[in-house]
Amino acid sequence: MAKDRADNADDVGAERAAALRELIEYHNDRYYADAAEIADAEFDALLRELIELETKYPALVTADSPTQHPGSTQQSTFAPVKHRVPMMSLDNAFSNEELVAWGERVERALVGGIRFVTEPKMDGLAMSLLYENGKLVSGGTRGDGRVGEDVTANVRTITEVPRTLKGKNLPSVLEVRGEVYMPLRAFEELNRRQGDAGLRLFANPRNAAAGSLRVKDVSITASRDLAMFCYQLGAKQGGPTLRTHQETLAWMRELGFQVNPRIEAHDDLESVYAFCQSMQEQRHSLGYEIDGVVIKVDDLAQREELGFTSKAPRWAIAYKFPPEERTTLLRKIQVSIGRTGRATPFAELEPVFVGGSTVGMATLHNQDEVARKDVRPGDTVIVRKAGDVIPEVVGPVVQKGKRRKPKWKFPTACPVCGSPLVRLEGEANHQCINVECPAQRVQRIVHFASRGALDIEGLGEERVSQFVREGLLVDAGDIYSLSLDRLVALERIGERSARLLLDAIEASKPQPLWRVLVGLGIPHVGPTAAQALATGVGGLDRVASATVEELVECEGIGQIIAVSVQKFFGLDRNHLVIEKLRAAGVNFDGPEPAPVIEGAASLAGVSIVLTGGLERQTREEATAALIARGAKVASSVSKKTTFVVAGESPGSKLAKAESLGVRVLDEDGLETLLSGGPDALPDLPA
Ligand code: IVH
Repeated sequence: MAKDRADNADDVGAERAAALRELIEYHNDRYYADAAEIADAEFDALLRELIELETKYPALVTADSPTQHPGSTQQSTFAPVKHRVPMMSLDNAFSNEELVAWGERVERALVGGIRFVTEPKMDGLAMSLLYENGKLVSGGTRGDGRVGEDVTANVRTITEVPRTLKGKNLPSVLEVRGEVYMPLRAFEELNRRQGDAGLRLFANPRNAAAGSLRVKDVSITASRDLAMFCYQLGAKQGGPTLRTHQETLAWMRELGFQVNPRIEAHDDLESVYAFCQSMQEQRHSLGYEIDGVVIKVDDLAQREELGFTSKAPRWAIAYKFPPEERTTLLRKIQVSIGRTGRATPFAELEPVFVGGSTVGMATLHNQDEVARKDVRPGDTVIVRKAGDVIPEVVGPVVQKGKRRKPKWKFPTACPVCGSPLVRLEGEANHQCINVECPAQRVQRIVHFASRGALDIEGLGEERVSQFVREGLLVDAGDIYSLSLDRLVALERIGERSARLLLDAIEASKPQPLWRVLVGLGIPHVGPTAAQALATGVGGLDRVASATVEELVECEGIGQIIAVSVQKFFGLDRNHLVIEKLRAAGVNFDGPEPAPVIEGAASLAGVSIVLTGGLERQTREEATAALIARGAKVASSVSKKTTFVVAGESPGSKLAKAESLGVRVLDEDGLETLLSGGPDALPDLPA
């Protein structure tokens, strides 16, 4: 009887799945024929329904299902998943003292002995897996801790995630949490492939893991060799009674989850600290990235007694490794030329592995900085890096009695075009004064194609340098006259990547005007000013012909920007670029309504201030994403500010926000806002 019912459900499911597949294939073809009949959101809904069906009835997955093809299906946004038990974060300890202070607090709060369990702190992204009656039904990212993104289809491609649990006495509901990460070997291999294809490299394994998991095309996740270590349970109904964390981990292993084999138990804090030290020494030979050690109280009843603060459990703490330092040889000090001609000195180093990546170069900012650090070619220098932070030369290791080369002098001529490098009164930087300098050209074109501007994938520095060298590009306007014949005639470009590049170029033409304004590289005009010009002044020709007085009328445009805009459009060489863009059909139209990405949350009327460093995207990318959804990104906090997004080491804007009662979001909150709009943010505790 029960079996009959199951068969029935399967039949209905099979029919629906077949119908969905047909519909999806049909609309997919229409879409690629540029004759879409339904909105993207409707298409996504069909696809999501199919993915859900296939998740529920894995037997329905067919090899030719659109969910299994590379490229054909696009899941444009992820549905929200609400976590049954909030996913909290951890408090940090940055030294042995802080670790001991935490341990002693725990000891004071409890009677009887305490056992601690220590685990490598995986540097990946937290994942919640939900099983119903032993079957994987959903996978969600942490999000803001309460609501994450539904990435079930992507998670199902990770081999280490069991789809069906092993063993008997399975709970009816079980939520297992852990970290999805990319092993170092897979990371290196991926970046090699990205590089070969002329695509962007990932900065580190965590970004690569996040980027691979949160993609629309499930087949990309499947090709990326992600792995997962589980370390915690969330919701649980039924199943065995567990008394300790160690029992929990052992049971998770039995169910089929990967649990880190390096987890250990300790009876005292000395032993805990020794584990932390030992992990710190081994951190680069584990085959995956860790950024610390998580220490947890083993006994679950004791955990209950300790409870939680508003954001983290009292029964656990993260011991974070200090930023890493290594010494290496400073081979040379060179100067690089940016798009505005700014000459920036940088250290060319004997490559050294530090803070999770190999560092061969580090910026030295400007002449005064080199003098202050007194680093000289031939010196042994200390290189420092913490997590994602840009590597830094701390200073020289001066060895007594060892002769050093003379102090480095700033070159007087541009290393690329030979024109004079000048440092103006009161300025910290030197400039190459030749606007025709090939290095400046390359950087201007790279800027035009960058993610915050026209977003043309495949036009990175290396490619653009090659094209400029070969005479294919002189300025950004020439991008639109690149042709297949000329591209394939070049070395290191195959037909496939040439076609991809041309497609990306074509796709950039209808980009909104504000992106074109950013791409032009007008001094002082970043995404916020560009947005203000596009919405407040009008089309490109209006912006170009406006007087300073007219420009400052526009909300968000001050005197400095207005003068800079007018000066820019007054130069003949800029007109040349603009006419090429016009002839190519790049969008110049305005005024632009606050642009909104179709299907994405609207942030119209929302005013945001960013402070501190973000981990998963640059400030420019976040700004562009916010603006594209209609938000206003401001530089200072006021009563009108809706949200302040505080990243790593936020500045005084955070304090200002708190004093004005402006809501502060972390990076997860920002992502929730971008994907679901203000309504998706969790309610604040009363
Ligand atoms: S336990 C209640 N264990 O670290 C908090 N977290 O900084 C439960 N993480 O969001 C987390 N390795 O993404 C735990 N062995 C481990 C971990 C770990 C990495 C991450 C996790 C969490 C973040 C907190």
